[in-house]
Amino acid sequence: MSDQSRTIVHDVPLNVAQQPDPYPLFERIREHGVVQRVRLNPTLEVWMVTGYDEAVAALTDPRLSSSPAGVNGLAEEMAHQERTNVLMASMLVADGADHTRLRNLVSRAFTARRIEELVPRIQAHTDAFLDVFAGRGSADLVAEFALPLPMAVLSELIGIPAEGQPDFARLAVGLIMPPNTPERLAKGARARAELTEFYEPLIAARRKEPRDDLLSALCAAQAEERISDRELTAMAILLTLAGHETTASLIANGVHALLRHPGQFAALRDDPGLLPGAIEELLRYEGPVSRGVARFTVDPYEIGGVTIPAGEMIIIGLAAANRDPARFDRPDLLDVARTEMPQQLAFGHGMHFCLGAPLARAEARIALGTLLRRFPDLRLTDPDEDLTRREGILRGMATLPVSFTPV
Ligand code: HEM
Repeated sequence: MSDQSRTIVHDVPLNVAQQPDPYPLFERIREHGVVQRVRLNPTLEVWMVTGYDEAVAALTDPRLSSSPAGVNGLAEEMAHQERTNVLMASMLVADGADHTRLRNLVSRAFTARRIEELVPRIQAHTDAFLDVFAGRGSADLVAEFALPLPMAVLSELIGIPAEGQPDFARLAVGLIMPPNTPERLAKGARARAELTEFYEPLIAARRKEPRDDLLSALCAAQAEERISDRELTAMAILLTLAGHETTASLIANGVHALLRHPGQFAALRDDPGLLPGAIEELLRYEGPVSRGVARFTVDPYEIGGVTIPAGEMIIIGLAAANRDPARFDRPDLLDVARTEMPQQLAFGHGMHFCLGAPLARAEARIALGTLLRRFPDLRLTDPDEDLTRREGILRGMATLPVSFTPV
């Protein structure tokens, strides 16, 4: 362990994603070394990786676990979570053979070819949402577009009826937070109860009368005993939570970043061929999973010249790594025509690489491409307004008021 990492503990508040510009903080931490000790709140100190190469190494290393079950300081709460939190049965926190089994059950639904087949439906939903406000000349792009679009696409794919849907984005906040305070434990329990109440009758209905959707396919897998009851509910909840607000934030953050950089907006509008590369750049520049993803040491683990003891939590800082000057030229610059950059890490990397990445990319491509084509003079309604960020651990926008010539 280096002297510096022993003596310096950097504060990374849980609401770091809401700050107008969290990137200088990540940069300051990296200046002390690519692996540092950070304090998430008064009772939770963990490790943080801010270097690109070290993040890739950690994300591909099977010696690190995705399950928080054995982590120091959370043991009692985690034992309770293990018994009651249905998401503890999801692929996100599974390792090894269990992870592969769960991921294989749904991976066919997310291949590039399957997603290409969804493109006409994504386009139809996009057009329908934009039609609602096209003649008005103004809109809140978060409430009227970025949030409902991914939900509509996911609902169709998974087989979730529109009526009676819980507020997934609100519930996600309670589910993803580390359960290290009584308030968070209670919030998580309430969210799980609400989601389970929503999904259980739906799963029972698909079991009886299968349809052409993912939920029915999972029920069939369950009948062959390839997935347990609890794992099935966990899968349904995970897919909705993982695919909704993340994609909404990519769209809203992306449009916001472009409107704050009019030259970049114009370049993309005038050359839609730049769109796929621009989506990668927007993911790099302002990715939704900004603080990062968690891994846990099982044995002492050496990384970036630091030995981390067993039973510790490591935050792999995806946004920090995406702005590592060792890998990205002028990392704080938004450049939709960037070439020769390494793969950005906003979808993670390695075994747990985002299963929904092809879907999120397709949605963002269609959403941004259609917006720019239909509203070529799109602008922020009040360019001087400091727009607030969404509550939670993801980096997203609470609102995005825009204006344009009505069509
Ligand atoms: C995993 C980000 C959209 C489903 C992940 C991970 C990240 C991520 C960083 C890795 C977690 C880890 O390593 O611990 C994003 C972003 C999205 C997005 C930024 C949008 C811009 C989606 C969509 C879906 C989805 C649309 C599907 C409906 C999943 C699933 C996993 C995952 C199932 C777990 C994979 C595994 O554990 O093997 N996502 N995601 N995501 N994502 Fe996404």
